Amino acid sequence: MRNDPLSFLGDEITALKTQGLYRHLRVLNDEQAARTRVDGRDVVNLSSNNYLGLTTHPRLKEKALAALEQFGVGTGSVRTIAGTMEIHMELERRLADFKKTEAAVVFQSGFAANAGTVAAILTKEDYVISDELNHASIIDGARLSRASIKVFPHRDADAARTIVRELPTAGRKLLITDGVFSMDGDLGALPALCDLAEEHNLIMMVDDAHASGVFGKNGRGTIDHFGLHGRVDIQVGTLSKAIGALGGYVAGNRNLIEFLQHRGRPFLFSTSHPPSVAATCLAALDVLLDEPQLIDTLWSNTAFFKDGLRGLGFNTGTSESPITPVIVGDAAKAMRLSDRLFEEGVFAQGIGFPTVARDKARVRTIVAATHTQADLQFALDTFAKVGRELGLI
Ligand SMILES: Cc1ncc(COP(=O)(O)O)c(C=O)c1O
Repeated sequence: MRNDPLSFLGDEITALKTQGLYRHLRVLNDEQAARTRVDGRDVVNLSSNNYLGLTTHPRLKEKALAALEQFGVGTGSVRTIAGTMEIHMELERRLADFKKTEAAVVFQSGFAANAGTVAAILTKEDYVISDELNHASIIDGARLSRASIKVFPHRDADAARTIVRELPTAGRKLLITDGVFSMDGDLGALPALCDLAEEHNLIMMVDDAHASGVFGKNGRGTIDHFGLHGRVDIQVGTLSKAIGALGGYVAGNRNLIEFLQHRGRPFLFSTSHPPSVAATCLAALDVLLDEPQLIDTLWSNTAFFKDGLRGLGFNTGTSESPITPVIVGDAAKAMRLSDRLFEEGVFAQGIGFPTVARDKARVRTIVAATHTQADLQFALDTFAKVGRELGLI
């Protein structure tokens, strides 16, 4: 019998357990909703990115079922061979209209959209200038591209300018930020970064995964929120969060989109969405246009819950969005807070290294439009009880 060549992984797992970072997967016993059942317990769910409750919206389910009946369960191919149906093309046209760009292309996930795009447009002669808290998919795309990665301190456009000034003139330069940062809920320094991109002729890219469906008119995202249409070359969005289904997309000019259809590796080498997913996303876009009151409710719920947490004395950082972190610092303490909340009927995940810095462990909360005032008050009361018990407030 040979020795297990993967035995080092056991050591890694033991290390995670020692550091209090080992997590069991929480399992939903019911649908993804504001109140649901997880690991056999009824909970108020503050852990999902289902901002508008669209995962269970009747209009989306109806369209998904109709597409499933009409076109079947899968596409059987990547987009560039036989996996492009009319419904995929329709979704891309609608996304381009929604984002006010010439064209759009859909990837299998937001992760694939970011990583596939950055890797496709840069080479090892080029540069990525990236906010230090940008999403992992941006970092992985930058690594795949083999471009030089220059990281600027969070939201610090002046520091980014200093970096840019020191770069050689040769080589393409991509300036990139998240629109909303997923762990802190704050906004990227978009207006100042757009100025910088224009000063130095940089490619400007924004990952609006958490902003689409949340910020801007009808949820068009942070570019719309800041009035920056025409100043961002590459807009990424996801169909997996507020849109309620699965997928990611890139919106921009026609050259960009046609290039990605030829060189975006996830587009070329991974099977396209089942038609029911595309139909779901089309219905979600209809809902964003027809039911903007959902977004209004999301924001009033956000204000109520955020004020409540702050009022209790928790450290909620600098959030400006429905994502509100409760920062406790120590990872084991954050996991303990999350576990105790769960026992009391509130599902809010603990998040530690490497997702956030080692000394910034937290419980992350995300409010949805579908939470009732009673749900949110219950969650606040539970935070108060457990926070006092653990000496956090
Ligand atoms: C900022 C950000 N970008 C991109 C993604 C990836 O999106 P998706 O889950 O659709 O792959 C996420 C989510 O996980 C995210 O938080």
